[in-house]
Amino acid sequence: MKLGLGTAALGRPQYINVRTENCDNSNLSEFKKQSFNVLEEAYNLGIRYFDTAPGYGLAEELLLEWLQTKKDNSIEVATKWGYTYTANFDTNATVHEIKEHSLAKLKEQWTFSKQLLPYLKVYQIHSATLETGVLENTQVLEHLAFLKKEHNLKIGLTTTGTNQVEVIRKALNILVDNESIFDVFQITYNFLDQSLQEISEELINKNKSIVIKEALANGRFFKNENYPNYNKMYTTLENLAKKHNVGVDAISLKYCEQTIPGSIVLSGASNSNQLKENLKINTFSLSNNEIEILNALKISPEAYWKERKQLTWN
Ligand SMILES: NC(=O)c1ccc[n+]([C@@H]2O[C@H](COP(=O)([O-])OP(=O)(O)OC[C@H]3O[C@@H](n4cnc5c(N)ncnc54)[C@H](OP(=O)(O)O)[C@@H]3O)[C@@H](O)[C@H]2O)c1
Repeated sequence: MKLGLGTAALGRPQYINVRTENCDNSNLSEFKKQSFNVLEEAYNLGIRYFDTAPGYGLAEELLLEWLQTKKDNSIEVATKWGYTYTANFDTNATVHEIKEHSLAKLKEQWTFSKQLLPYLKVYQIHSATLETGVLENTQVLEHLAFLKKEHNLKIGLTTTGTNQVEVIRKALNILVDNESIFDVFQITYNFLDQSLQEISEELINKNKSIVIKEALANGRFFKNENYPNYNKMYTTLENLAKKHNVGVDAISLKYCEQTIPGSIVLSGASNSNQLKENLKINTFSLSNNEIEILNALKISPEAYWKERKQLTWN
C-alpha cells in the first residue's frame, strides 16, 4: 500500500484549503466521532501509515485513543514537533497555529507524542526552514539524535515553500556523531510543483524515505470557478479521470506514486467517501504518455506558493 493517511483534516475542523462545498464542523463531538471512523475505515481498507502532529488540533490525541483499540505491529505512526495548535476549535480564531523550533518546544511536545510509542516510528521537524535556524541548532539536532537511538526512531523533516530542495540538500549534509541524522523527508509534491524531481533520485540512492504531502494541491485540483487560470488543467484531469473510471483525486495521487517510486503518498481525506475515492489509485496505472501530459501542467514554484499563501482557513 503506497497510500498513508494524513490526519490534519481529522484533528481540526478548519484548514487552509480550497473547498468545493461548505462543511459544518461546529459540533466537536460529532467531528471527533467522524474522524475516529475515518481512522478505522482507513485501517480496514489496508492503510498502515498514519501522519500526525501536535499542530493538528486533537489529531494526536485521537490517534492515541484509536491505537488503543489495535494490536498490530504493522501500523506505523509519524508525528512532528514545532507547531502548537492555538485556535481552540473556534471558527473565528485569527491565529490557528504558532511555530517554534526551540529545544524547549521539542522537549515539551515530545512528552505528549512519546505516548504514541511503540507505533511511533518517525519523528519530524514540522516545516523546517532556513529562517528558523533549526538545521543549525546543535542542541536540537543532538537531542533528535538521542531520541533516534533511544527509541529506534527515524528522524525526518517536512518542507514547504519555494526552496524545498535547498532545505533538503542542507539537511542531507547534517551529521551528528558522524552519522546522517535525517532518514525521512516529507515534501509537497504534485504536477503543479514538481521541484522534488530535482532531488528524488539522490534521496532514493541514499536510502532515504520520501513521503508526499499536498498531492492534491490543497484542493486546487477540483473544478472551481474562482480559478479560471486552471480551466485547461480541469479538462485534462477530467478526461483522464473519465478514461480510468476514477476521480481527479485518484489521477493526481497516482501521478505522485508513479513518478516518485517507493514513496508514501499521503491522503488528506476528511471523510470515508474521499478516502475510498483516493484508494482507487490501486485500480489503474497511468501510461508514460499520460504522465507526460500531467508533467506539462507544471508551474513555477514561485507561482505555486504565491497562490498557496493566499488560501485561507475555512
Ligand atoms: N508538514 C506539513 O507542514 C504539512 C502540511 C500539509 C499537509 N501535511 C500532511 O499531509 C496530509 C495531506 O495533505 P493535505 O490535506 O494538506 O492536502 P491535499 O491532499 O493536497 O488536499 C486536501 C484537499 O483535498 C480535498 N479532497 C481530498 N480527497 C477528495 C475527494 N475525493 N473529493 C473531493 N475533495 C477531496 C479535501 O477536501 P475537504 O477537506 O474540503 O473535504 C482537501 O481540501 C495532511 O493530512 C498532513 O498529514 C503536512
